[in-house]
Amino acid sequence: EFFCIYFYFILCTCSVRAVVYNVNCSLTEKHNFCPVTLPDIAIPVRRMEKLEILSHGLSARLQQQLALIGEYNVSLMESLQELQNLARRVRMVEVGVSFSELDFELLRLEVQRMKTTVVELRASLNQSNESIDKLYDEVQEILVMVSQLELSDKQNIMVVQQKIRSLRKRVQECREKGTVPVKSDLETGLRNCEHEGLLNVSKPKVVQLNWRGANYKYGGWGMDPSPASSKKEVYWVAPLNLDGRLLESFHLYTSYKDLLLYSNPIERRLSKYNVNTWDYRDCGQGSGMVMYRSHLYYNCYGTRSLCRVDIDAKVVERTLLSKAAYNNRFSYLGVSWQDLDFAVDESGLWVLYATEESLGKLVISKINVSSFSVEQTWVTTQYKPEVTNAFMICGVMYATRPKNTGVEEIFYTFDTKTGKHGSPAVLLDKVSETVQSLSYNPADRKLYMYSGGYEVTYEVIFKL
Ligand SMILES: *[C@@H]1O[C@H](CO)[C@@H](O)[C@H](O)[C@H]1NC(C)=O
Ligand SMILES: *[C@@H]1O[C@H](CO)[C@@H](O)[C@H](O)[C@H]1NC(C)=O
Ligand SMILES: *[C@@H]1O[C@H](CO)[C@@H](O)[C@H](O)[C@H]1NC(C)=O
Ligand SMILES: *[C@@H]1O[C@H](CO)[C@@H](O)[C@H](O)[C@H]1NC(C)=O
Ligand SMILES: *[C@@H]1O[C@H](CO)[C@@H](O)[C@H](O)[C@H]1NC(C)=O
Ligand SMILES: *[C@@H]1O[C@H](CO)[C@@H](O)[C@H](O)[C@H]1NC(C)=O
Repeated sequence: EFFCIYFYFILCTCSVRAVVYNVNCSLTEKHNFCPVTLPDIAIPVRRMEKLEILSHGLSARLQQQLALIGEYNVSLMESLQELQNLARRVRMVEVGVSFSELDFELLRLEVQRMKTTVVELRASLNQSNESIDKLYDEVQEILVMVSQLELSDKQNIMVVQQKIRSLRKRVQECREKGTVPVKSDLETGLRNCEHEGLLNVSKPKVVQLNWRGANYKYGGWGMDPSPASSKKEVYWVAPLNLDGRLLESFHLYTSYKDLLLYSNPIERRLSKYNVNTWDYRDCGQGSGMVMYRSHLYYNCYGTRSLCRVDIDAKVVERTLLSKAAYNNRFSYLGVSWQDLDFAVDESGLWVLYATEESLGKLVISKINVSSFSVEQTWVTTQYKPEVTNAFMICGVMYATRPKNTGVEEIFYTFDTKTGKHGSPAVLLDKVSETVQSLSYNPADRKLYMYSGGYEVTYEVIFKL
């Protein structure tokens, strides 16, 4: 008599990049052993070689284009430099530099920048040109390849290993108690907060540049952890205007692939045009927005109220957050206009802010989304303007501050269940100096960051 635990999980949501690992654990009464095998992750050297050849070819072609276009723009030369840099770094793999030493994020950023350049180039030539279109397709192909290569990145393997550790723990339990866990859904424990909080985070993964472009450095993005049942997934990208204050519109993408390719965006506008004037009353303010159950929650423009818009019905509702300081009174460190910061965790929606009464210390309120009102409020001991950003996991608030221009530190926690605060020291590598928005998604247990206009994610590693 034996049973099996099948353990599947998907590293990435994107179908192009989906990899399924399967760990088969079987246990027999006689032998009483539970073997667990680690998946064998081969390093795709051949793909790396192909990438190298491709990027070489691309470099030569870009040079050709440049010669034809003449002294079109200096920025093209810069991107050519970057491309050559990229080719050189990829060549390092051949001469035996360890695979994990390659920084995939930088690779991806560079290719991303090249893509932007090619897009600009395409726009500046007043007629469409086949060879430029081809160039664009090839840059796109390389982007996908970098993403695929990244799957063998050490950090991802760490996350895999953590999930395997959790499997081992369950097997151990079943061995000791002699009982068979009926449902072997290993994710259930994590989803039900059966862990002791955040232990570490992976390296950042740059997903994409926001749809408005590199100049739009303020904003937020994420994935709805519980989208409407009619939709499998909903990604939202909400860059603010250049003033770093006004949220006028946002884009929705119903697949990861669409998000990566900027394809099939659904635009939602919050500003209205009435009799020769713009009406911004339904617009948002600051980068604290988050999407939950098909509603985007945000600070209503110029007020201390909470707004939410149903992404399908497009109806805007608002509720007053009495006492909240607003209009840039106690914003986050290095980020303006983020007085109200929404967060979602396993238990629902929260809003983080400060009040005059709290003397600028962070205040946490739990929001009841059916009545759209405050359920309960906690006052922490941390001064909000000293914090870069904050998010919630399992009822615990985690706050960050910069350690230096390249590293952010999760340095403060506040547990709403016990009222106790703590001081972890978990470091996050940044892709750009300022963190405009940081939120946790309980569905995939990743952190979503908007930094310097880029959409970035981190895997969270928990204390088990
Ligand atoms: C898992 O192990 C069981 C028993 O050894 C076997 O019957 C089953 O085919 C295995 N499944 C996979 C997916 O390897
Ligand atoms: C070249 O590109 C940069 C930004 O990419 C832009 O600021 C500049 O105006 C461009 N120069 C010309 C001559 O088009
Ligand atoms: C494109 O057209 C605009 C006017 O329509 C002109 O000013 C510009 O010089 C043209 N650019 C190129 C590269 O031909
Ligand atoms: C497109 O560009 C190539 C080289 O860059 C050039 O030879 C060709 O004439 C261009 N075609 C058009 C339609 O402009
Ligand atoms: C946390 O993760 C980083 C890489 O993201 C790693 O360098 C570091 O050693 C980890 N720290 C701990 C305590 O595991
Ligand atoms: C949330 O609001 C709904 C509707 O007003 C109410 O029925 C429910 O009890 C509230 N939930 C909590 C936890 O207060």
